[in-house]
Amino acid sequence: MRTKPSSLLGIEALDRDAIVSLLRLARRMDPAKAKPVLRGRHIVLLFYEPSTRTRVSFELAAHALGATTYVVHATASSIEKGESLLDTGRTLRAIGADLIVIRHPSSGAPSLLARHLNIPIVNAGDGMHEHPTQALLDAFTIERHKRKLAGLRIAVIGDIYHSRVARSDIHLLSKFGARLTLCGPAELVPDVAATLAPGLRVTRRVDEALADADVVMLLRVQKERFTGTELRPEHYISAYQLTPERLRRARRNALVMHPGPMIRGMELTDEVADGAQSVVLEQVQNGVHIRMAVLARSLGAA
Ligand code: CP
Repeated sequence: MRTKPSSLLGIEALDRDAIVSLLRLARRMDPAKAKPVLRGRHIVLLFYEPSTRTRVSFELAAHALGATTYVVHATASSIEKGESLLDTGRTLRAIGADLIVIRHPSSGAPSLLARHLNIPIVNAGDGMHEHPTQALLDAFTIERHKRKLAGLRIAVIGDIYHSRVARSDIHLLSKFGARLTLCGPAELVPDVAATLAPGLRVTRRVDEALADADVVMLLRVQKERFTGTELRPEHYISAYQLTPERLRRARRNALVMHPGPMIRGMELTDEVADGAQSVVLEQVQNGVHIRMAVLARSLGAA
């Protein structure tokens, strides 16, 4: 089936049907047995910030579908000489890019490109705004284990204020009726975070957030985005680090998730990161399925 080419800029603007359709398509994607439906298409990965998981899984996904990829890093391109985002995008389009995957430190950068270029743009993380493919792969991972999203108790612990992953996850999981409790110190989880979606709870007490949780979603403390707020690591560790003892407050089969990169010893202990409940590496693997679905859909070859 050919669908209309389209950008993926965020989760907030997507309706439930669009999300369900992408998750269903991702379930049909198998990187080992993929069809080259994107043969002859050129995908540019335009990364203004570092990435391991997102960049590599987009490349694997594109190759599995037969597309060619070109990676442009801000530090090793004409961006370093002062070229603007729009000029960079127009240049890549003129050279032959059929789709641009972009990661950028400024919220809204992917939308700007989408408004000015007549090719699909896929947001791989923009500032503190959204990281839509991460939320899709998180939902995909939860559904594989729990068979549903509605009604699940999900504790979201860590740096929510600076996290684009948090925003996309909150929008997606709330749309599907999950019950989210946001937890962390006020510098990282301001009370106003409760207004991101209907029904959110905010607590400073990690035991309260973890009580009977079906899923524990940890978020990285994003020191690169701090602008003067003081966070004492020893306080964070004593109040919020996920330890095996604290994890026992959650349900016995609760999933432990983290988008990565994990800061071991601060956000969680090694026992939890590598424990039986951790699905962190599964999240990464599922990212390839999701990104195959997104690329195929965005280029109208779903
Ligand atoms: N989760 C995530 O976006 O990881 P990377 O920064 O390694 O891509």
